[in-house]
Amino acid sequence: MPAADNDVTTVVLEQHKQVVKQLDAVRIATGSARADEFDSLAAMLDVHETAEETVIYPALRKLGDEGTRVADNRTHEEDAAKEILTKLKGLDTGSQDFEVLFGEFSSKVHAHAASEESEVIPLLTSSVFPEERQAMGDAFLASQHS
Ligand SMILES: [Fe+2]
Ligand SMILES: [Fe+2]
Repeated sequence: MPAADNDVTTVVLEQHKQVVKQLDAVRIATGSARADEFDSLAAMLDVHETAEETVIYPALRKLGDEGTRVADNRTHEEDAAKEILTKLKGLDTGSQDFEVLFGEFSSKVHAHAASEESEVIPLLTSSVFPEERQAMGDAFLASQHS
């Protein structure tokens, strides 16, 4: 049986698709379903961003100045999004405040994922050997299931 395609770039892109679906699910849900969808999104983002911080950004920084710049920029975006997420967790998901702040949060998460796809993924593809990307993908998934 061939090994699973756990290239870290594939894993990240798949999870971004999942994040986009879950952002939409929160947006369209109402009542207690929206609270459940939001909890699920928050948990998903937590394990996704933590795995990136653990596995991907350290590898980017090892690539030199460009990798460090890209990792720093992405980390700042994640920190800004986490701040909003913390505020959202303190709001009633049925409130107007939540509605407005969730819209801002959703835009930031989309923009962050787009930056990763336009800067992080190409850098990993051009500068990291496929076997290493596979090992990174295994580590990425293992870190999420521990
Ligand atoms: Fe990220
Ligand atoms: Fe990401």
